[in-house]
Amino acid sequence: MAVLVNGGAGFIGSHTCVELLNAGEDIVVFDNFYNSNPQVLDGIRKITGRDFKFYEADMLEMSSIDDIFDENDIEQVIHFAGYKSVPESVKHPLKYYSNNLRGTFNILETMKKYGCTKFIFSSSATVYGIPETVPVKEDFPLSAINPYGSTKLIIENLCREMYTANNAWTFILLRYFNPVGAHKSGLIGEDPGNQPNNLMPLVLDKATGKRDVLQITGDDYPTRDGTCIRDYIHVVDLAKGHVSAVKKARELENGCKAYNLGTGRGYSVKEILDTFQRVNNIDLGYTIGPRREGDAAECYSDPSLAEKELGWKAELGIEDMCRDAWNFRRNKLI
Ligand code: UFG
Repeated sequence: MAVLVNGGAGFIGSHTCVELLNAGEDIVVFDNFYNSNPQVLDGIRKITGRDFKFYEADMLEMSSIDDIFDENDIEQVIHFAGYKSVPESVKHPLKYYSNNLRGTFNILETMKKYGCTKFIFSSSATVYGIPETVPVKEDFPLSAINPYGSTKLIIENLCREMYTANNAWTFILLRYFNPVGAHKSGLIGEDPGNQPNNLMPLVLDKATGKRDVLQITGDDYPTRDGTCIRDYIHVVDLAKGHVSAVKKARELENGCKAYNLGTGRGYSVKEILDTFQRVNNIDLGYTIGPRREGDAAECYSDPSLAEKELGWKAELGIEDMCRDAWNFRRNKLI
């Protein structure tokens, strides 16, 4: 029996493959390398000293997914694959709905056909929209504020409705806060290509000289230093959260449960930049720019439900996140 990791060559997917293999799980990985590359698979093998079956396949091709289920004994699925840029989703909503939803429908249809009933979904704190208060708890109201968020929310709703209709299913919806960092080996990490829009990849581009300007987008928010506060979580901690979710899915006869995966601590943009500079001894030369549209002043999790029910808790801090992110990027320059 194996865990199928869809999108296993991506940033969070690859780190999850490492932690699953380290935990003794058998995995089958599939990815179309839309936002990743085959070297990642070598990195996973090198770090763990273990091999696994890989399919280069697209989740939009039903026959490819069918082949994977036909050729393997899949016990559960972790579904990472999907487009993930918020600004791109605003420009191209149909592209996002079409890929992220159709792909998910294909996976779920195939699972149903093969009697595989355990589905772990890569959701996001984006499903809370702009939260009215912090820390954010799983029972807060849900809303979508951009097409990317809509696709996450639609898939979550589908899982809840499928469970209501047929409670043989087990759905675990993992709501990530702000994943950053990289494996400490420097062999795998985040590689967002040429148009990053998240804070850490932009910081890394500035640190390498690939980008000329790094701006804090607004320092007039009602926070301790005026810059926005987020719950940054080390990707290795996040990956370990998936291992706990796999065990939970195995333990649960059935159910549909959502969990926040965050640290429960908020850091401001300025704190992140200053920590990055200090631990890596790099002067980022950042400036202050105008606010970015649609940003909440503060968003951080209450992760206590995951601790209580999954037995999982984030352990690494922002110094590790900043050091490991830079270590990976620096490695790529050598
Ligand atoms: N920021 C800057 N300068 C930049 C880019 C970002 O100061 O050039 C700031 C933002 O204003 C924000 C913080 O850095 O305060 C983090 O921004 P990110 O874009 O990295 O992350 P967000 O919190 O906006 O979004 C993330 C994920 C989304 C997810 C969302 C909700 O990228 O996918 O969290 O959880 F939907």
